[in-house]
Amino acid sequence: LIASFQHKILSGKRVLITAGPTFEAIDPVRGITNLSSGKMGYALARAAREAGAEVTLVSGPTALPTPYGVRRIDVLSAAQMHDAVMAAVPGQHVFVAVAAVADWRVANASDQKLKKQDDGGAPQLEFVQNPDILATVAGTVSLSGWPYCVGFAAESENLVEYGAAKRERKGIPLLVGNIGHHTFGQDTNSIVLFDEHGHTVLPHADKLTLARQLVSEIGKRLEQRSL
Ligand code: CTP
Ligand code: CA
Repeated sequence: LIASFQHKILSGKRVLITAGPTFEAIDPVRGITNLSSGKMGYALARAAREAGAEVTLVSGPTALPTPYGVRRIDVLSAAQMHDAVMAAVPGQHVFVAVAAVADWRVANASDQKLKKQDDGGAPQLEFVQNPDILATVAGTVSLSGWPYCVGFAAESENLVEYGAAKRERKGIPLLVGNIGHHTFGQDTNSIVLFDEHGHTVLPHADKLTLARQLVSEIGKRLEQRSL
C-alpha cells in the first residue's frame, strides 16, 4: 500500500478563533448582549479544521453545535473571553477575532437581582471599556511573527475607508470587513479583505463558502511569509 498524502493548506498549524457575542452582566439574572449568532466564526472554525489545522474556538453564548474536531471553550463576558484567549494564545500560528465583543461592561453590576422601586425609579447603569482582545494579541506578536492576526469589522457605512483605518489602528496584517450591517444572524454575507496592498471584495455567498475562501487566503499569506 502506498500512503497518499493530501496537502492541506493549514496542515500542522494551530488556529485560535473567537466567535459569537459576549454577555455583560447587569445582575445575576440580566445582562447586555448583541445580535451576533456566531455563524461566521463557527464556519471559520470548521473550514480551518477541514484545511488541516488544530482549532481552538473561544465562544460567547450561541445556539450552535461545536464543529467536528474543534476544541471549544465557552465564555460569557468580554473579560472572560480575554482571559481564555490570553491563556490559549501561546503556540498559536493564527488568531482570528470574529467575536462581536462588547465594547463596554457594566461597572456597577449588582451581586443581587435588582428589584423594582416603588417610586417608579430605574437603575442607573455605569459603563467601563472592555480590553481590546485583538489589539492585545496583536501587541504580543513576537519577532517570530506568530500568531498571524486577522480581525473582523462590521461597519454601517464608509466600509472601505473605515476598514483600512481599522486594520492599521489594530496593527494587524489582515482585516475582514462585512459589507452592510445585515450579517448578524444571517446565513450569507459579503466580505472585503483589507491587507497592506489594499482591499479585495469577495462576492456574496453563504458563510461556509466565505469561510473556506478566507482560510485559503490566510493559508496563501502564511506560505508567502515563509518564502
Ligand atoms: N475586538 C476584540 N476585543 C474588543 C473589541 C473588538 O477582540 N474588545 C475585535 C473584534 O473581534 C474584531 C475587531 O476587534 O475582530 C474589530 O471590532 P470592531 O467592533 O469592529 O472594532 P472596535 O475597535 O471595537 O471599534 P468600533 O466598535 O468603535 O468601530
Ligand atoms: Ca466594537
